Amino acid sequence: MDNKKVYTTKELKSWIERSGLTEQERSLIAHYIKDNGRLIEAGTGGGRIAIEIQKKYEHLEITAFDFVGEMILSAKKKNDKIDFRVLDASNLSVFEDEYFDYAIYLQQIVSLVPQELIPKVLKESYRIVRKGGIAIFSFLDFKSRKFNLPLSFIVNTARALRGEKWEMQKLPWLKLGGKLNWSFLKKGQPTTYWFIENEIKQLLKNVGFRIIKTERKGMIYIVCQK
Ligand SMILES: C[S@@+](CC[C@H](N)C(=O)[O-])C[C@H]1O[C@@H](n2cnc3c(N)ncnc32)[C@H](O)[C@@H]1O
Repeated sequence: MDNKKVYTTKELKSWIERSGLTEQERSLIAHYIKDNGRLIEAGTGGGRIAIEIQKKYEHLEITAFDFVGEMILSAKKKNDKIDFRVLDASNLSVFEDEYFDYAIYLQQIVSLVPQELIPKVLKESYRIVRKGGIAIFSFLDFKSRKFNLPLSFIVNTARALRGEKWEMQKLPWLKLGGKLNWSFLKKGQPTTYWFIENEIKQLLKNVGFRIIKTERKGMIYIVCQK
């Protein structure tokens, strides 16, 4: 199973039903986003973040996308002012270079992307933002959970026994649809990528972003300027 399948099945309902912003999201949005120009939200799910922004910023032109069609169908029913689309973050070729003033990649969407596609996803986010524009990201933080290191050794020992690659920060979902994922040690599990702060900062710099704020509050929050 991959993460697209996860969000089309076990994690669909819970993300469609969510509303409101977390304290961290509210404060980053209030601080960095102004009520004009164009904004894009990546991995919008049921539209939660885009809809909350649209309620407060009526002069912003908002586009939001997700690669799960069912998520976008549900989002469209909730709000007809936002341009909701089915797209994959690794290919945003429908948008011209520098089209957006703001890009929001919150709720760890980049951590859900297969590791080999992460540079491509970051490159696309950089390409679609105008010079001087702002991109707000959050990433799963490997060091935020004390048990990640022992968990990784257990998971990777099972991988090594199957003759698979040792990948420290690529961890299986421990819960799916709110229930414990008892199959987490088995072959072919969906995984997420847990970043080290300096590693993701370097990847963002490699695509050209300037980092203007970093916060570690459960997740790694990074605000960038192009
Ligand atoms: C943790 S959920 C967050 C949903 C929403 N942003 C929210 O906070 O309520 C992550 C979302 O990212 C989407 N997603 C993951 N990888 C994606 C990709 N490569 N392209 C587009 N959407 C993706 C999933 O389908 C899912 O809806």
